[in-house]
Order: sequence, then C-alpha cells, then structure tokens
Amino acid sequence: MEWYKASDAITDKPPFMKRIKVKGKNICLVGYGGDIFAVSSTCPHAGADLSGGWCKDGKIICPFHRYAYDIKTGKGDPGQNDYIDTFPIEIREDGVYIGLVSFTETLKNMFK
Ligand code: FES
Repeated sequence: MEWYKASDAITDKPPFMKRIKVKGKNICLVGYGGDIFAVSSTCPHAGADLSGGWCKDGKIICPFHRYAYDIKTGKGDPGQNDYIDTFPIEIREDGVYIGLVSFTETLKNMFK
C-alpha cells in the first residue's frame, strides 16, 4: 500500500463531505461522527457524485436516487447488491493521507 497526501489539514468542522482527487481517483472525504473516512466519490448505481450527498445513521446517501452505503465498509443497503470502495486514512502532522493499493499489488494478491 502506498500513502498519498490528500489534504494539508482538515479545517472543515464535521459533518462535511468533499471531493478530492488522489492519483487520478475521485475520492470523497467525509467527516462524520467524530471520524474522517475516505470512500469512492462515484456512485456505482448511475455515477452520481457522492460528495453531493449526505450522511445519516452511519451511511452515505447518494443525492440522485438515495442509495445508501455504509461509511465504514462501503457495503450497499440490502437489495442494492453493490458497494463503494473505502480507503484507509492517516492523520499526520502535515496533513491527511490516503492509502491506495497499487494495481501491481492487487494482481499479486489475486494470485497468492
Ligand atoms: S446514482 Fe447514486 S443512487 Fe442512483
């Protein structure tokens, strides 16, 4: 896993949601319930930007058709049969970092 700086510092007060780009990926940084989460910002249903949505009961809600995804696991609500990617984050002295698994690493893990 490689760590990439996503933001110098979080100045927004939770709750917040903002879209950032890290290594070409659109990621939604979410401040919710006293924690910060990083999830894919593209809704798997029809491609809406999840950073335009909101959080409720530990889930991120898509602004288009209101599909819901667990903010920690990325799992969609029952019946949706989908999920969003989630990414680990680290708060360091100089900012917020997001961990991304490289394509090569993914391939290696598939053939272990
Ligand atoms: S695009 Fe997100 S629920 Fe339809």
